[in-house]
Amino acid sequence: MQDLSRRSLLLGGMAVVGTGALTACSNPSGPAPSRFAIPARLQPLAGQRVVEHRLTARATSLDLGGTTVDTWAFGDTAPGPLIRATAGDLVRIRLDNQLPTDTSVHWHGIALRNVADGVPGLTQDPIPAGSSYLYEFTAPDPGTYFYHPHVGVQLDRGLYAPLIVDDPQEPGDYDLEWVVVLDDWVDGTGRTPDDVLAEMAGAAGDGSGPMGGMDMGHMSMGGTPPFGDAGDVDYPHYLINGRVPTAPDVLHAKPGQRVRLRIINAGSDTIFTVALGGHDLTVTHTDGFAVQPRAAGAFYIGMGERYDATVTLADGVFPLVAAPYGKQGQAMALIRTGAGVAPDPVVRPAELDGPVLEGADLQPSEASRLPAREPDSTELVHLSGQMMPYRWAINGAPFGQNEPLLIDEGDRVRLHLMNMTGMTHPMHVHGHTFALPSGLRKDTVLVKPMSSLAVDLQADNPGAWMTHCHNIYHAEAGMMIALNYRP
Ligand code: C2O
Ligand code: CU
Repeated sequence: MQDLSRRSLLLGGMAVVGTGALTACSNPSGPAPSRFAIPARLQPLAGQRVVEHRLTARATSLDLGGTTVDTWAFGDTAPGPLIRATAGDLVRIRLDNQLPTDTSVHWHGIALRNVADGVPGLTQDPIPAGSSYLYEFTAPDPGTYFYHPHVGVQLDRGLYAPLIVDDPQEPGDYDLEWVVVLDDWVDGTGRTPDDVLAEMAGAAGDGSGPMGGMDMGHMSMGGTPPFGDAGDVDYPHYLINGRVPTAPDVLHAKPGQRVRLRIINAGSDTIFTVALGGHDLTVTHTDGFAVQPRAAGAFYIGMGERYDATVTLADGVFPLVAAPYGKQGQAMALIRTGAGVAPDPVVRPAELDGPVLEGADLQPSEASRLPAREPDSTELVHLSGQMMPYRWAINGAPFGQNEPLLIDEGDRVRLHLMNMTGMTHPMHVHGHTFALPSGLRKDTVLVKPMSSLAVDLQADNPGAWMTHCHNIYHAEAGMMIALNYRP
């Protein structure tokens, strides 16, 4: 059985949040003994390609485009270094932890072997400051993924980066490909993500009410449809590829070229609406899986979700905008195919005010469907919580105090996601993808306020897997649960 007290110490159960020891790495009685063996080394099979990288996580300063911030990042950039493999490759990544605290790396969306999943307390020990750790896994499925730590609210620093798994069968019906990483940014602007969480948690403790800079507006007025209230934090900056709109990333192409965009929401507390001025986008994939292509002027993307879209570019300069849902400001990059004056950093493409596609309305491609099968078991995933005090829970208790979901290998398992809160939660399951009632395959799905959604997964990857809200503040304040295979 799990050692609950140690697990909640490492992963931020409510008892820990209440005392503000959020990324606890200090154990007064010295380091706790390891519960996790060093994973067995993987050797490449005959003909298997090996993709190797060395990653450094450390404190650094970054120029967001005229604004310099002190933060933590992989490889001194945000987004961090792109890792690219082909489906079936053996991926070997050594992480050097030069941060002042524990960390880990989670390979978001990849159905990898459990020991490489990067969740301290569940699949490995935390990687202590000053040491290194080797991740080895086979990346089975093509798609757009990303990686980030699974410790505290480190994701809301600069510690995130794209991970692309190419499909050897993919015809590649486009001329160019761009990775577009969205983020909400606070670190180094006078407070850190740990400060933000402590402020929200602290407001619970003394009952003194709303605190400076926190978006409490939803408590009185609610957000705009369809997601109701969708975030707790007002961010000073929203970024595309690490740049603010006043000094944007500029993507160059020729008129008439067809581009594949791989769009990743690495934000911690923000759903974005994405639009490219003057163009419709054709959405082709979500969370790595092909969909029936669908044209959209704009679409929503929740934290942890990925959408791929193709577009044939016109002649000129066009804003690629990600508008934070229910919040002020925006992220913007520029696409330049010809002469022209760059649009204003606050430009609002008309597409944002037309119909906006919700990812859950996409239909799967035939090849993406799970074979039809009735569920062998149903597990309730009941989401609850509140802002004041700042507490979030699954199945009635915060992580560390809730009972792991228990499933059997080989079963078709239905997760009944039931959202009993006034907020939208991007729910993510590690190590698996699930099918929505339409058959759409995803690993992260937006569950709207006071609504429920049944998703089915095939229990084909034994281990202990985190299931949680990808609002990192909600997760850290308790909105996580383990999904464990029975031995
Ligand atoms: Cu990107 Cu546990 O998640
Ligand atoms: Cu949430």
